[in-house]
Amino acid sequence: MTHNLSDAKILAAGPEDLPDIKDIANTIWYEHYPGIITHEQIAYMLALDYSLETMTRDLATGVSIDKLVVCGVMAGFAAYGATNKEGTMKLHKLYLLQAFHGQGLGSLLLTHVEDEARKAGFESITLNVNKHNHVALKTYQRNGYGQQESVLVDIGSGFFMDDYVMAKGL
Ligand SMILES: CC(C)(COP(=O)(O)OP(=O)(O)OC[C@H]1O[C@@H](n2cnc3c(N)ncnc32)[C@H](O)[C@@H]1OP(=O)(O)O)[C@@H](O)C(=O)NCCC(=O)NCCS
Repeated sequence: MTHNLSDAKILAAGPEDLPDIKDIANTIWYEHYPGIITHEQIAYMLALDYSLETMTRDLATGVSIDKLVVCGVMAGFAAYGATNKEGTMKLHKLYLLQAFHGQGLGSLLLTHVEDEARKAGFESITLNVNKHNHVALKTYQRNGYGQQESVLVDIGSGFFMDDYVMAKGL
């Protein structure tokens, strides 16, 4: 089903939203990442980054998590926050359920994050994206993000993230 962008709302998530965010993150990762990373790595990264403990700590330490609600349904979310480099914000997460792809909703959420970053006085946004995640690379390129460097990040237990670092000036 195609949704009009005006049916979409972006709202700050609170602790009460975390169980739903955990649920849709699980769905999105198993819809999207097979073929990009192994099932073992998907399970490992979900346990690492999307447990209620981790996301509760994220909120408590100043990471913003915003939910995208389309016609009353949570369609996706973004997470972002300050880095130790002054003026630079990091987009940690930008995720939409597959049923909501290809309608401009990812760009809508990304533009919202950029607006929030500007309001908070940040001058640039950085993010990591898997080198083989062509759908996401296309969205970031389309929105003016440039490739900064190529990194192999050791995330423990023998797993690595094979990423590009991308950035955009605000
Ligand atoms: C990355 C992701 C957020 C992009 O979401 P998206 O909404 O599909 O991306 P965009 O906003 O760029 O959508 C643009 C597409 O919608 C189409 N579109 C339709 N109506 C549109 C509108 N009103 N405005 C803009 N684009 C529109 C565009 O033509 C384009 O289609 P194309 O990709 O076939 O060229 C989404 O694919 C996703 O959640 N992927 C899985 C998780 C992931 O990889 N996250 C990033 C981790 S780093």
